[in-house]
Amino acid sequence: SKTTAAPLPRDATGGDPRNFIEKMKAGKKRIVIFYGSQTGTAEEYAIRLAKEAKSRFGLASLVCDPEEYDFENLDEIPEDSCVIFVVATYGEGEPTDNAVQLMQNLSDDSFAFSKGEHRLEGLKYVVFGLGNRTYEHYNAIARKVDAHLEGMGAQRIGERGEGDDDKSMEEDYLEWKENMWKAFAETMGVEEGVGSETPDFSVTELHSHPPEKVYLGELSARALTKVRGIHDAKNPFAAPITKAYELFAINGDRNCVHVELDIEGSGITYQHGDHLGVWPSNPEIEVDRLLYVLGLGEKSRREQVIGIESLDPALAKVPFPVPTTYETVLRHYIDISAVAGRQMLGVLAKYAPTPEAEARLRQLNQDKEEYHNVVGLGCLKLAEVLQLAAGDDITKVPTAENTTVWKIPFDLIVSSITRLQPRYYSISSSPKMHPGVVHLTAVVLKYQSESEKVPRKWVYGVGTNFLLNLKYAANNETASVPFITENGSSEPESVAFPQYAIEGPRKAYRQETIYKIPVHVRRSTFRLPTNPKSPVIMVGPGTGVAPFRGFVQERVALAKRTIEKNGPDALAEWGRMTLFYGCRKQSEDFLYRDEWPEYQKVLGDKFSLQVAFSRDGARKPDGSKIYVQDLIWDDRAKIADEILVKKGYVYVCGDAKNMSKAVEETLARILGEAKGGSAEVEGAAEVKQLKERSRLLLDVWS
Ligand code: 2AM
Repeated sequence: SKTTAAPLPRDATGGDPRNFIEKMKAGKKRIVIFYGSQTGTAEEYAIRLAKEAKSRFGLASLVCDPEEYDFENLDEIPEDSCVIFVVATYGEGEPTDNAVQLMQNLSDDSFAFSKGEHRLEGLKYVVFGLGNRTYEHYNAIARKVDAHLEGMGAQRIGERGEGDDDKSMEEDYLEWKENMWKAFAETMGVEEGVGSETPDFSVTELHSHPPEKVYLGELSARALTKVRGIHDAKNPFAAPITKAYELFAINGDRNCVHVELDIEGSGITYQHGDHLGVWPSNPEIEVDRLLYVLGLGEKSRREQVIGIESLDPALAKVPFPVPTTYETVLRHYIDISAVAGRQMLGVLAKYAPTPEAEARLRQLNQDKEEYHNVVGLGCLKLAEVLQLAAGDDITKVPTAENTTVWKIPFDLIVSSITRLQPRYYSISSSPKMHPGVVHLTAVVLKYQSESEKVPRKWVYGVGTNFLLNLKYAANNETASVPFITENGSSEPESVAFPQYAIEGPRKAYRQETIYKIPVHVRRSTFRLPTNPKSPVIMVGPGTGVAPFRGFVQERVALAKRTIEKNGPDALAEWGRMTLFYGCRKQSEDFLYRDEWPEYQKVLGDKFSLQVAFSRDGARKPDGSKIYVQDLIWDDRAKIADEILVKKGYVYVCGDAKNMSKAVEETLARILGEAKGGSAEVEGAAEVKQLKERSRLLLDVWS
């Protein structure tokens, strides 16, 4: 029998706002799409599927955040309809926050449609998952959704799609959807070609708009009206930089920046181990490039005030505040620095300035391998692809003279390029030691593109180069390497170091000589145990050390207070806090090398720092490098005791691909040996249990 839900409030139309079937019927929609999304990617794919259903078959969809709906009536969905799930998998195989309830419902035996009963006989569904192969539980959530629905008798349309965020998300999606739509047409009894390609947005140039009501980089309506409110992901806080400096002692072109941001009075609070979302801007050279390609390079065109309206708000919301200007959209609101997607090249081909350029774009759109070799390996942004197709020289600083204009309607730019997303960094301070201030530690991402077919160039990570440039600006410095050419020489002839419009019109974020960065805090579960008696083992080579600087500061602040209150022996019972850190060379990239001895003075033998210098330290007998996992192995007797007997906590932060895997294997070896068994059986079981009990926590990225 069905479980009865509490009566829900009715909305203005008399309907139940949490009943998606009522909404589908009211809007004559045969498709409902639920997205399990954390950073917006799954939501984007959900919207793309909705648009394609419309353009291929003329079918309208209801795109839903699963958090806003109930699923008790999933079995009442009309026979001619279908449900699409686009779900991301996080961390250790977890659903995104907004899909937690959905997953509980689907897996709960006492839920309205329990397994053996085949309550969903006849329900048609589609699944696409977003995962990352670097992690153990690849696409676990999509697989679970599929298994639960199948178990209840529902009928899947086509194959389950799985995208790999590490390598090939877009290609996985494009490949999967072709066969899925074929199966879809058959199962739903619809025909391709009856749909229509309608624009998502309409862009209007406004000619007498009050300038103080134009958004020039602000990220929420509140930022402009100066209405105070809670600062979160929907309303980031423009935090002043109080201090910024270089952490690497290298006179080269590798950088690692330390940035301190003032959050006093903002209402923002944080804990050690939390993440900071930083909202970057695009570099000026890329803003210029796309403006010239679109024929919007002249000052009066760049600064033209525009309004943007969604033609179907249910499918596509304008993803940033308006009215704004052309250049602001490119500088602050959309991700023009991303590698151009294969699908968008097909959409834009018909606006090519010449038949040759059109043919080239169509070829890149249709020939997967060519696309991969040219656009993928060449790390080409949309504007660069368009320039290359038109025969422009992408190694020159773009100008009106050297750039061919494409007459692409601006609404297509807004709907083809995704919104510029915040970048998340592990906070590297403790609020107990630095109240009202957040510290960031970011290694600056820069590498060379690899394509043989297009000019090689430097690729700059948007978020970290934004921080680096702000560091230069805040200190009135010029870049140490102002110009970098294709061949790596420092001749100022080719593409300039990415300069950001730090002094540009983002007026909300620059006051006098104080530079500001829009930020918000994302909570994490990466926290010290509350009882300082528990031993703590931290493993964080490279910038993986960031959260552990916060951890150590947290303990130092606590120790100072405890000693003040209870005297110098107050820490006697405390557990040892061990930090395994690794870097290349003692004299070059040893982060915070001067701070650790200060912390040591307070914590005494309750803190131990062990460093693996991989490029100037000792080597193993076979000549290979010594890494953090080797130091952990050397310390195995203590580590086994701290984990198995003293119930200590282990934290790993940094590279997910190699380092964290190697550390987990080493832990399994140590624990297996201590239990008198093997790494593979007893050791692996201990590691698994530690994870389940939240005594082995990971903050890793790939
Ligand atoms: P390497 O670059 O000399 O190989 C921070 O990046 C530190 O982590 C560097 O010393 C780096 O060494 C090291 N590192 C690289 N690969 C690693 C791995 N698989 N496990 C642990 N540390 C690693």
